[in-house]
Amino acid sequence: MAKKAAHISWFCSNCGNESSKWEGRCPSCGEWNTLVEERVVTRAGSGGGKGTLRLSSGDIGTPMRVSDIVASTEERIKMPSSELNRVLGGGLVAGSMVLVGGEPGIGKSTLVLQNVLSIRRCQVLYVSGEESAAQIKMRADRIGRPSENCYIVTETSLDNIMAHIESLNPGLVIVDSIQTIAADDLESSAGSVSQVRECASRLLAYAKRSGVPVILIGHITKEGSIAGPKVLEHIVDAVLRFEGDTHYMYRILRAVKNRFGSTSELGIYEMCQRGLREVTNPSEMLMNQGADELSGVAVGVTVEGLRPFLIETQALVSTAAYGTPQRSVTGFDSKRMNMLLAVLEKRVGFKLAQKDVFLNIAGGLRVNDPALDLSVICAILSSNVDMVVPRSTCMTGEVGLSGEIRPVTRIEQRITEAEKLGLETIIIPKNNLRGIDTSRLKINVVEVAKVEEAFRALFA
Ligand code: TYD
Ligand code: MG
Repeated sequence: MAKKAAHISWFCSNCGNESSKWEGRCPSCGEWNTLVEERVVTRAGSGGGKGTLRLSSGDIGTPMRVSDIVASTEERIKMPSSELNRVLGGGLVAGSMVLVGGEPGIGKSTLVLQNVLSIRRCQVLYVSGEESAAQIKMRADRIGRPSENCYIVTETSLDNIMAHIESLNPGLVIVDSIQTIAADDLESSAGSVSQVRECASRLLAYAKRSGVPVILIGHITKEGSIAGPKVLEHIVDAVLRFEGDTHYMYRILRAVKNRFGSTSELGIYEMCQRGLREVTNPSEMLMNQGADELSGVAVGVTVEGLRPFLIETQALVSTAAYGTPQRSVTGFDSKRMNMLLAVLEKRVGFKLAQKDVFLNIAGGLRVNDPALDLSVICAILSSNVDMVVPRSTCMTGEVGLSGEIRPVTRIEQRITEAEKLGLETIIIPKNNLRGIDTSRLKINVVEVAKVEEAFRALFA
C-alpha cells in the first residue's frame, strides 16, 4: 500500500503558490491576504502532488530549431454553434484547453451541452460533477436531439474520470465544473486552490499529450473572477466568459484570453424555452423596432470584434430630488459618463449639476467601444431638452475632453450596417472617411467636428 504523508500547507488563491506557513503577503505574487490553509495528503509514489505542469509523458524532449518543427495545419473541431466558433477563433483547436466561466444560472452548462449534443464527427465525454445523468438527460431532451456520440457520466473523482477517458477514448472532453472534481491523492476538498490547480494541470497534460481538446466549466467568485487560483487562467489556452443579466434573455460570450484567435470577438445568444438561440443579427434585437419616437433615445453604431451593430442608448435626465444628484449607469462605464457630463457642462454650457442622470444600454449589453460616446451624449441632451432624436438617424464618434469628435475605427462597416438597416442619416466624425466614397450610398452621411455641430445637425 502506498504510504501517506499529510501536511498543512498554505496556498495563495491568486497565484497558487504553496507556502509552509501563513504570511500576510504572498511571497510569490505579492498579493495581500490571499493565503488559505489546506491539508495536503499525498501518497508517496503517486504522480500527483505539487501540481507542476507535465506536458510530456515522461521522456525528455530535445530542443529543436523552429524551422525544423513540422506543424500540421492547425486542426480545429468546428462546433455546431457559429457564434461559439467565432469566439474561439474558428473552432476548437486540437489539444487545447478552454475554460468557460460565468455566474451561476447564466447558462454555461446549457451552452456547452447544446453544442456537444449535436457533434457527430467524434465521441464526446461530458463529465458532470453537479447534475445526475437523469437531470442532464431531461435538459438534453429539451434543447436538442442527442447524437449517438454523446456520453454522459456523473463523476467527481479525477482518477475515475481519467479511467473513463481511457476506456471511451473520446474526441472531446467536457468537465462541468472544474470546482467539483477532486484528485484522490490530495485530501483537500474539491474546489480548493490545490485541487483546482492539480486537476486542471492533469487534464491539461492529457489534452496536450493526446491532442484531445478539453472544455472546463468554471464557477466565478462574487468579485467576478474565476474561482480557484489565478494560475488556472494562465495554463488554459482560452478563457471564455459567458455573461449577461439573468433578468434579460440575452447572453454574451466573450473571449477574455485566446491563444488561437482574437479576444475582441463576441457571440450573442438568447435564452429561450428550448435552450440558447444564436442571435445572428444583433442590431435587430438591440433596436426597439417600431416604437414611438421618444426623447432620450439615440441610436449608436458600435463595433464588437469585427461585427458592427446598432444599439439604442437611453437616457433620463430629471431634476434631482435630493441634494446630491444621482448618476446611474447600466451597460456603460460610469466614469466615462461622468466625463461626458463634464464635457457637456463645460464646453456646451448645459447645467446638469442639479440633475439626476440615468443611462441605459438596451438589451442588457455592456459596451466598451468609445464610439458610443456620441450617442450617449446625444441621448442625455435629448432627454434634457425633451426633444426627439429622429429614429432614422444614428451616430458614431468618440468624444474628447474639449468636446471634439474623434475618428473611430471601421467607419466603413459602421456606415454600411446603418444603411443595411434602412436608416437615413448617420453622423460621423469629421475626417474619418479618408477617401471612402460615399456617393453610392443611400444613407446621408453628416460629418461633425464638435459636439455642438452634432447637436445642431440633430435639433437644428
Ligand atoms: P444552466 O446552464 O444550468 O446554468 P449554469 O450551468 O451556468 O449554472 O442554465 C440555467 C438557466 O437557464 C436556468 O435558470 C433556466 C434557464 N434555461 C432556459 O431558460 N431554457 C432552457 O432550455 C434551459 C436548458 C435553461
Ligand atoms: Mg451548470
